[in-house]
Amino acid sequence: MAPRLAALPSPAAPAPSQEWWRDAVVYQVYLRSFADSNGDGIGDIAGLRSRLPYLVWLGVDALWINPHYPSGGADGGYDIVDYRAVDPDYGDLADLEALVADANQLGLKVILDVVPNHTSDQHPWFQQALADPSSPEANRYHFAEASEEPPNNWQSLFGGPAWSRTPDGRWYLHLFAPEQPDLNWRDPAVADDFDQTLRFWLDRGVSGFRVDVAYGLIKDDQLRDNPGAYSPTLFGHGPEQAMTWNQPEVHDVWRRWRAICDEYPGTMLVGEVCLSDLDQVALYSRPDELHQSFSFRLIKSGWDAAAFADGVQTALDAFATVGAPVSWVLGNHDKDRQVSRFGGGTLGTARARAATLLMLALPGSPYLYAGDELALPQAVVPDEAKLDPIFHRSGGARAGRDGCRVPMPWNEAPGVGFSPDGAAAPWLPIPDDWSQHAVSRQTRDGGSTLTLYRRALALRAAHPALGSGRATVSTSGDVLTVRCAGDDETVTCVLNMGADTALVPNPGTVLLASTTHVKNAHGTVALPADTAVWLLEG
Ligand code: GLC
Ligand code: CA
Repeated sequence: MAPRLAALPSPAAPAPSQEWWRDAVVYQVYLRSFADSNGDGIGDIAGLRSRLPYLVWLGVDALWINPHYPSGGADGGYDIVDYRAVDPDYGDLADLEALVADANQLGLKVILDVVPNHTSDQHPWFQQALADPSSPEANRYHFAEASEEPPNNWQSLFGGPAWSRTPDGRWYLHLFAPEQPDLNWRDPAVADDFDQTLRFWLDRGVSGFRVDVAYGLIKDDQLRDNPGAYSPTLFGHGPEQAMTWNQPEVHDVWRRWRAICDEYPGTMLVGEVCLSDLDQVALYSRPDELHQSFSFRLIKSGWDAAAFADGVQTALDAFATVGAPVSWVLGNHDKDRQVSRFGGGTLGTARARAATLLMLALPGSPYLYAGDELALPQAVVPDEAKLDPIFHRSGGARAGRDGCRVPMPWNEAPGVGFSPDGAAAPWLPIPDDWSQHAVSRQTRDGGSTLTLYRRALALRAAHPALGSGRATVSTSGDVLTVRCAGDDETVTCVLNMGADTALVPNPGTVLLASTTHVKNAHGTVALPADTAVWLLEG
């Protein structure tokens, strides 16, 4: 089933570092869409396990798996019913243990997704809270007395008010879908239970957690109105949402979680912190809190050298003040695929390849989203097949996130190798022309995006200036330059975001370019529009 992949030369084994996460390349696996082993049309743990050799071949260090827990199915697994179990769609606990064991054997770390801000409305706690308003479980959520108007002006990120009514008329808070009631983290029983969840998985050998909505667990203690409305076009939440997000007490939760991780050497936490002010984001990664917090500036920037330069410099500065690495993101399961964001087709692909070389050069930890190494575009998903609550709650006004969650194409056979032959239809329809992006096809093609990723990751591993250098950022017109100085050598990444070819001085050799059209002669590189190059000094 797995494609035949050429063996890598075995690198000299470096001493394992407890702080492996500082420059690790993390590959995000959207479990439901990665590989289906049993033919039900749903990606699963056994399927992922069978594809681990592909991830080793590609050259990543770790994988982050989107939620694998029993779920109410209202938000792609982010509405969890049981935090210490595996959804039968994906397999069972033994499958997960076998996955972790195999991955560790192959030198890959496994990071799970943990969702502490809200549970599913099917969670036993919420069910008990509905049945008995005076139960201890009711205090673990945010309920308000029956009244005509919702208790405040907070809006759900998925559209509409953040309050819905229980069958007996009370209000309850959900910053996401109504099926995702927010937990009350001011109740100590909530924190105690999550301690157990962390230990449950850490005891099974996982190397850490991606923490969902890490900036939201604690709410204003009086649930006062927000001063303004959130706009999804912003870089993240700011003062206009001051009552909902980023309450000072939330940092106590991360100190508590950090202390637990410290009992398991070599484990880490990476937080999703969607705040517009990166200095505030960085505070979540002070030395006794989360090891990393995502920097989302690049994933939210258009194709613009000044915006990219600012996104890079601001993140480097912010995280330097707390001594944490920057976690770079160009793609994930919540945003349109970068090929499409950057213009689609050949243009978007060229730009996505170039942006990836920039990201992989930067000091810190890049997160790669499964399928971006295949240059997958945002898939067109027919409205009737869409599942994302964002699409449904906005009455179709917002397209939703299904188009970046379509299953992976592994080969050129009908069904593109996602499921075994004769399987049920995939859970989201795969576009008819998806085989052009298949792994099998791109492994044969020396110019493919998959080949570029693999080369880039091998070079990044061989040249510590890439990923661990001291970066100096500059722009000249539409050309962005990041010089990465390592202890022994310096590699410069030049990204041409303009419409014209740029002439760039080459102080040494071209290590890698995002296109074969780079011309290198007499100490000058001619860098076409929408391309990037890595230059090794000396
Ligand atoms: C995070 C996840 C997103 C999910 C939301 C609610 O933003 O990345 O997919 O819908 O949290 O859990
Ligand atoms: Ca399956």
